[in-house]
Amino acid sequence: MFKSTMNQSPVMNTYNRLPLSIQNGKGTYVWSDDGEEFLDFTSGIATCNLGHCPPHVQEALQEQLTRLWHTSNLYHIPKQEELAGLLVEKSCFDQVFFCNSGAEANEAAIKLIRSFAKKNVGKQANIVTFKQSFHGRTLATVAATGQEKIKTGFEPMLEGFIHLPFNEDQSLQAIKEISPTAVMLELLQGEGGVIPADPQWIKELSYICKENGILLVVDEVQTGMGRTGSLFLYEQYGIEPDIMTLAKGLGSGFPIGAMLAKARVGAAFQPGMHGSTFGGNPLASCAGTATLKAINETDVLRNSIEQSQYLMSYLEALKGHHPFIKEIRGRGMLIGILIEGDAIELVKIALNEKLLLLSAGQNVVRLLPPLTVSKEEVDVFIHKFNKVLQHYEEDQHG
Ligand SMILES: Cc1ncc(COP(=O)(O)O)c(C=O)c1O
Repeated sequence: MFKSTMNQSPVMNTYNRLPLSIQNGKGTYVWSDDGEEFLDFTSGIATCNLGHCPPHVQEALQEQLTRLWHTSNLYHIPKQEELAGLLVEKSCFDQVFFCNSGAEANEAAIKLIRSFAKKNVGKQANIVTFKQSFHGRTLATVAATGQEKIKTGFEPMLEGFIHLPFNEDQSLQAIKEISPTAVMLELLQGEGGVIPADPQWIKELSYICKENGILLVVDEVQTGMGRTGSLFLYEQYGIEPDIMTLAKGLGSGFPIGAMLAKARVGAAFQPGMHGSTFGGNPLASCAGTATLKAINETDVLRNSIEQSQYLMSYLEALKGHHPFIKEIRGRGMLIGILIEGDAIELVKIALNEKLLLLSAGQNVVRLLPPLTVSKEEVDVFIHKFNKVLQHYEEDQHG
């Protein structure tokens, strides 16, 4: 049997990986296989919102592991009912569909919108999404995404998406004219560069949607589960969307996604129209329930807001000292530092300082500490980041 030796790893070559392999994690720290300690300000890309191996979730999962892992959605799953009940209680939605990832949650939303359009408007759906947006890597969510680099090589794209400029008044006018079935957006674009939606623009967008019977769909895969200082970001904008998607932080790192909808919209799905073998299985639902309870019943949200303010004031002050830092933006524990230069270079320097950071787009360094981060850990970050900036500047001038 011939096997190519071009790619050393048996894992398919789809990621640009940094030279670090992580063995253990606890709270805001992870340890490499040679025992080195790293401060983790990435939270597994906005997923481990309660830090690594949070005790509440770990205990609940350990207990569930001894009882039942998986059945199927052919039977009732009490743990799934419990999680759906909690999500409904804590949001403006009435029903939940469970799946395994953010892309799948958005796929479910797109299918629901299409079915809703057929049933209620008697036409094929068209959906407005925005430039720089990111909605996932499946074919429908790639088509929804407003970034060419994500689509390239996978044409032809699924039809029915119209991409408009984000935060622009001209887009509001266009939405009135097009009157699409739905408008789907991230209220804070994460992968696109940590770009928050303008509150007034969102108010007007929400009003236009309500007036014209257009469904408003918020993709809270990255912003949800407390990441931006409230359980869901839409709460801070004072709007009531028709559909919301979640994943990442929902299971504290255990794979689970969800699509939530108002009852009149959810009614467009009937048995047999959509499904997922693993979606909301007992283990995943247990992780979700324990995570949601931990957020609701402890002071993590208050802590995340306090530490965010502390971190933001330090970062704002950096602008005066380092001219290549152009802007600090974001909310809660989703923070972007716009720099002149290549964000990945800075991320690599941070790795040498045993600090894990992310980029977003070409020139934004993204900080995603867990909501549980302590002031002492923010101080450790400040100490390390000052050194990172110094090395970055030396590299630029050297
Ligand atoms: C806003 C948003 N939507 C969807 C996704 C896709 O989620 P997943 O990678 O779980 O499919 C992401 C992932 O980064 C995201 O940030």
